[in-house]
Amino acid sequence: NVLEDELAQIIASHIELDGPLLPILHAVQGRFGAIGEAHVRAIASAMNLSRAEVYGVVSFYHDFADVPDPRPIVQLCRAEACKARGVEALVSAAEAAAGERVRLETVYCLGLCSVGPNARVGAKLHARLDEQRLAALIEAA
Ligand code: FES
Repeated sequence: NVLEDELAQIIASHIELDGPLLPILHAVQGRFGAIGEAHVRAIASAMNLSRAEVYGVVSFYHDFADVPDPRPIVQLCRAEACKARGVEALVSAAEAAAGERVRLETVYCLGLCSVGPNARVGAKLHARLDEQRLAALIEAA
């Protein structure tokens, strides 16, 4: 099936790397939103590892999840230009607005550096954020 083919392709395209496990896990997480049991099995067998070894790595890193996170995501840019434009002062209010309901992610540069602080929700970019606009964005996510 298509998903299995995609998984096989992800594995094949990283397996030659030096230390391929983390890049494979990142790619699987990015593509499927989680690293499930079937993924672990396929990765373990391709890499000659035990499933426990792969699970060990998955559970060690916060970037990886074994079930997809259903929450809406708001990505807040905290790279240099947005920092210079004041993003750090917005972070605690943003975290409070997000609470447990919204997943607030830090990203590094959304390509709109001259009009920061910036955030992305889905495909949409939002520029020149202040505390109120960012909180409204998070509440609407
Ligand atoms: Fe924030 Fe580039 S630094 S968009």
